[in-house]
Amino acid sequence: MRPFLFITDLDNTLVGDDGSMGVLNDRLASHRQQFGTTLVYSTGRSPILYQQLAMEKPLLQPDILVCAVGTEIYYRGQDCWDRQWSDLLSQDWDRELIVAIAAHFADLAPQPESEQRPFKVSYCLSPTAAQMVVPELAAKLGDRGLDVQLVYSGNQDLDILPQRANKGAAMSFLRQQLGMAAEQTIACGDSGNDLAMFRDRPERGVIVGNAQPELLHWHHANPNPNRYLASAACAAGILEGLQYFGFL
Ligand code: GLC
Ligand code: MG
Repeated sequence: MRPFLFITDLDNTLVGDDGSMGVLNDRLASHRQQFGTTLVYSTGRSPILYQQLAMEKPLLQPDILVCAVGTEIYYRGQDCWDRQWSDLLSQDWDRELIVAIAAHFADLAPQPESEQRPFKVSYCLSPTAAQMVVPELAAKLGDRGLDVQLVYSGNQDLDILPQRANKGAAMSFLRQQLGMAAEQTIACGDSGNDLAMFRDRPERGVIVGNAQPELLHWHHANPNPNRYLASAACAAGILEGLQYFGFL
């Protein structure tokens, strides 16, 4: 057995079925202890909502926590986020202008204040409205010279992020920081904001069986032997994927 870099989304991926999460946590904790495997949680949540989840569920302490859809990276035992990463994201990022442009779209309902982050602007948006609003908003932002990306997840959340940031870009950054090979890295997810960890990536990917339609449709349209669609849901699906790729 060799150490690997394990990156997982939380809501409806690692978290969702307490029984199988307990089994997976035991396996991961002992792998980390014996072989030095690195545990990374990569969530759309802010640190505030992450703390809330950590109080509700028996999560392992991750070695690295990536919050707000890849835009904030925190290392265990350090209070401040990775400055190199935030400095990179702050280039050409004009948050106020994004908020001002988005305010013209009546269908965009701002998410709670805790989820508005320095490098992430988030709204609730219905799937029907999204079909019109997402391309129109993208065009308006582009017209003003803003180099941003729009990420729609779970048929309800719209995140506006710097072009350089998403969960996939954060994974590349971490792999580089840790010197971890693609074959020894595995990412797990269930929804739209996880897609960047699977699109044109050299790492191993696991999509849990309960994934959202947006991710499933894309997966079926873009098959890749490095990506495994589990039949089991949530943590049981992760375990299935880890075994499929021979990590456990
Ligand atoms: C989490 C965040 C929310 C974000 C969503 C999708 O639920 O709290 O702000 O929009 O993930 O990325
Ligand atoms: Mg999720």
